[in-house]
Amino acid sequence: MDIAAVNLLPYEDFVNIFGNVVEKCPIIPAAVWSRRPFVSVKAFEAAINEFVDALPESGKEGILRCHPDLAGRDLKSGTLTRESQEEQAGAGMDALSSSEAARMARLNEEYKKRFGFPFVICARMNDKAAILQQLSARCQNELAVERARGIEEVKKICHLRIHLLLSDGTFKL
Ligand code: GUN
Repeated sequence: MDIAAVNLLPYEDFVNIFGNVVEKCPIIPAAVWSRRPFVSVKAFEAAINEFVDALPESGKEGILRCHPDLAGRDLKSGTLTRESQEEQAGAGMDALSSSEAARMARLNEEYKKRFGFPFVICARMNDKAAILQQLSARCQNELAVERARGIEEVKKICHLRIHLLLSDGTFKL
């Protein structure tokens, strides 16, 4: 699907297709639909990023809170979104040793206790060693730095999700 086809989508289809490009935040593509036509995929992504950037800090934290923990409860119970499941499996989050799993769980809790939102990282751009290293390092950041960092990761995840959806033959129009 190309940007011309995206621009022709009625909002119901648009939200069905792009509703999870930001994890569990369909309100974002639903709002951004009003900004069509997009001159390019880049412009579509920019519209999403502008919406996110315009939110108050509490709204940005809300976006982060819509993300499941990496290697957390939803992964174990099979209740992740399809996108998150694929990303987490790709980064080896479903194949941690028991000591890695224990370290991950301890650091995830430490991170959430410190910041009040979960650790978000673009799993497709990192392997399990890098994720554990980043989780440990980012626990030391200040709240404002970490909120901004988490949102930058959300944008990377969104970029990859959009490109995967557009290259997926399922949505050829
Ligand atoms: N990175 C890529 N997907 C996810 C996700 O669903 N949750 C978190 N915490 N990080 C991610």
